[in-house]
Amino acid sequence: KQALTLPRLKAMKEQQKPIAMLTAYDYPSARLAEEAGVDIILVGDSLGNVVLGYDTTIPVTLEDMIYHTRAVVRGAPGTMIVTDMPFATYRLGPEATLRNAARIMREGGAHAVKMEGGAELSEEIRVLTAAGIPVLGHIGLTPQSVHQIGGYRVQGKTSEDAQKLIEDAKALEKAGAFGVVLELVTEQIASAVTGAIRVPTIGIGAGRGCDGQVLVYHDVLRYGSDIRDKRFVKSYANIGDTIRTAISEYIEDVKTRNFPEEKHGFPADDITVDSLSS
Ligand code: KIV
Ligand code: NA
Repeated sequence: KQALTLPRLKAMKEQQKPIAMLTAYDYPSARLAEEAGVDIILVGDSLGNVVLGYDTTIPVTLEDMIYHTRAVVRGAPGTMIVTDMPFATYRLGPEATLRNAARIMREGGAHAVKMEGGAELSEEIRVLTAAGIPVLGHIGLTPQSVHQIGGYRVQGKTSEDAQKLIEDAKALEKAGAFGVVLELVTEQIASAVTGAIRVPTIGIGAGRGCDGQVLVYHDVLRYGSDIRDKRFVKSYANIGDTIRTAISEYIEDVKTRNFPEEKHGFPADDITVDSLSS
């Protein structure tokens, strides 16, 4: 399988073919996502929440992102892989940002990086793009700034905020971003942004008007993730329940000596062992 290319991604917007993006964080999740035919895998710093158990994405390190990206690349060698630059590994000036993004590509094996922020990232995006590092933008709710924003809530509700989102998206496109993730913004704003730029928008909690959608693996599968407060999520399975039931049955089988059975063991044919014959 051939990974999606950036020119083909742009063509998908022009041809109004929806882009399906999903996060993955390790070998099996990446492999299943590729087998299912996802367009892009995002190694999101949401791994801090759903894989590492932190309350926010802030503790996630560059090393964490590289480590998980390597596993994802091994699982999905034929899929476009975008990796998040974690908290405080960019906005450090173009040189340091370039150094960190290059590590994600060279050591991790990602095809592109994603950064949270708007027009203020223009210079850094220009430098990365010039160095051959494709950048995906991310505006609206930007979880790395949760302490500044004061919670995980819908963005772009006032006309002033809405105008800023459209200007940020245009600035990201102008700086060279190949697409823009829109997280938790009103459907009207997401549609307006989508119409205002020629690169694709990929929405999460951004309604029906985006060029593509992204969801978190563990939310889609209900795999150890609490989705009660996430009305923008649609889950397609309840893997958590399946896993818990399976593990309970295993424990029960061990406790009742129903596992292992004779067929699970390795009988010796004609060897003699002193301690056995005595
Ligand atoms: O980290 C992540 O999973 C993300 C998506 C929610 C866009 O940034
Ligand atoms: Na993220």
